[in-house]
Amino acid sequence: MNNEANATPAPRRIGILAAMPEELQTFLDEMPDEHQVELAGRTFWVGHWHGHVVIAVLSGIGKVAAAVTTSLLINRFHAAEIWFTGVAGGLGSEVRVGDVVVADELVQHDMDARPLFPRYELPGKGVSILRAHSELSDLAVETTQAVLSTVSRHGQAEAGALSRKDLDDLGIGLPSVHRGLVASGDQFIGSVRASQAIRDAIPATLAVEMEGAAVAQVCHDFGVPFTIIRSISDRADDAAHVDFQRFIRAVASPVSHAVVDAMLRRR
Ligand code: ADE
Repeated sequence: MNNEANATPAPRRIGILAAMPEELQTFLDEMPDEHQVELAGRTFWVGHWHGHVVIAVLSGIGKVAAAVTTSLLINRFHAAEIWFTGVAGGLGSEVRVGDVVVADELVQHDMDARPLFPRYELPGKGVSILRAHSELSDLAVETTQAVLSTVSRHGQAEAGALSRKDLDDLGIGLPSVHRGLVASGDQFIGSVRASQAIRDAIPATLAVEMEGAAVAQVCHDFGVPFTIIRSISDRADDAAHVDFQRFIRAVASPVSHAVVDAMLRRR
């Protein structure tokens, strides 16, 4: 018998940042043994999920909030890897509402210290783009593909899960997964003009949000692997907030939950 092949993977300490309370709640429902720790105005929930130690927390909105939360996860809770789930605006021409974007690379679209440093460059780092951990992102992409394919096979899923009916009601086709560049900034992008400006300046951008590149920077500084997974809630245009709450409840939260659940099983 090959012991190595049959060995159970060692439990990991995983910090999970949720962008929205609805998402976080679906995680906490899986961690009945959790206990809470209050720190810096945040509630960290420490428990077990599929044998791993999970520290789940709301990221906070914007780069500074997300950077502080990530730093606490690493330094106070000793998270050995960081997973982020949330929503984003779709910028890439193929990226539709309901799709999922896994970040391969991240940039701060509002970083501009010219003339001291080139536009987008992180002062002192000599780079503008940070790479996500490729193995974790591979896992996120493969898992998300598997999760989304169940929607096409089963029209109506169980309560709390992603259903074909909700997608139809929201006018969303069958979702697909993309991986590539995600741009972050302290700005909700809600006009054609603003989204076109980012598209023109950073043409490879697939999605825009407000935290990912800050999480990336902290994880790079501490040498901690991370992945950023975003459901596309809008096209970052003038209709960017239509039925946002319903989208979170019916699409983003079930997708985040199913993806994290399946990733934890496979990790
Ligand atoms: N998160 C979800 N949609 C977004 C948008 N359009 N801009 C920034 N962050 C977002």
